[in-house]
Amino acid sequence: MHTIYFGDNLDILRRHARDGTVNLIYIDPPFNTGKAQSRTRIKTVRSASGDRVGFQGERYETVKMGSRAFPDRFDDYIAFLEPRLREAYRALAPDGTLYFHIDYREAHYCKVLLDGIFGRRSFLNEIIWAYDYGGRPARRWPPKHDNILVYVKDPSRYVFDTEAVERIPYMAPGLCGPEKAARGKLPTDTWWHTIVPTNGRERTGYPTQKPLGVVTRIVQASSRPGDLVLDFFAGSGTTGEACLRLNRRFILVDDNPEALEVMARRFAGARGIRWVGFDPRVTGRTRRGAADPVAVMPQK
Ligand SMILES: C[S@@+](CC[C@H](N)C(=O)[O-])C[C@H]1O[C@@H](n2cnc3c(N)ncnc32)[C@H](O)[C@@H]1O
Repeated sequence: MHTIYFGDNLDILRRHARDGTVNLIYIDPPFNTGKAQSRTRIKTVRSASGDRVGFQGERYETVKMGSRAFPDRFDDYIAFLEPRLREAYRALAPDGTLYFHIDYREAHYCKVLLDGIFGRRSFLNEIIWAYDYGGRPARRWPPKHDNILVYVKDPSRYVFDTEAVERIPYMAPGLCGPEKAARGKLPTDTWWHTIVPTNGRERTGYPTQKPLGVVTRIVQASSRPGDLVLDFFAGSGTTGEACLRLNRRFILVDDNPEALEVMARRFAGARGIRWVGFDPRVTGRTRRGAADPVAVMPQK
């Protein structure tokens, strides 16, 4: 059903991703901020009084441990991304879609790179995910958005199901009449959505975790039930959680053992997950570079 790989995504994509088999790719690579991304480390333990509920109804509580981090500095960021994005293009199904999540510092370079790989006609949207959180520098407009570049493999046929997307309230419901107001409207290319709340149940403690609501909307619009979704910068596994809730198959990849440990806790109790290079029953036991040679991404 689902596969989670521990290891470098370029190697795993080259060895395991079959041509034209993946319906949707969502990736959120490190943004090349020049800093280590870190967060206070937490541990989730089974506890009868815990406020988190697993997929089979078991309860967990969160205990603080030290901190987690991954480096976010690349001397040549575009040279790092390019071969991975070429693999993504190769693996995408003919009617597949790529969502590429980035921020304002690198978005323009990445768009030029993606135009070169997909062709300019394949550019579908730039989604602005707007939030309102964090510091407010006084010497410039506080940057409070991320950019999500959307490319389709073939602009003449691709999956885009607006009926499956949850509608949102009108900003001025009084101007559109009660019926329309009750139905809500389709989101535009500007998405207002809170970051993962600091003390919310969704929070895993992994740095740069993205909100489930943002990834859910992507999966709803650009894939169908049963489709195969790939995230090869998986982090805490947000894409996997959206897929489990929406009945899609997923493949996740990350090369940080801490990401695998977070995913092991996040998916505790979920059925049908194959782990490659990592044993989820024993945290801290990864086998770097030990991807099972017979494990291949399932065919569409
Ligand atoms: C911004 S985080 C992704 C966060 C994720 N979207 C979430 O919601 O938790 C980027 C992830 O890419 C991983 N990563 C960076 N370089 C990688 C590589 N070459 N192969 C696999 N994973 C990599 C990092 O370990 C990190 O977990």
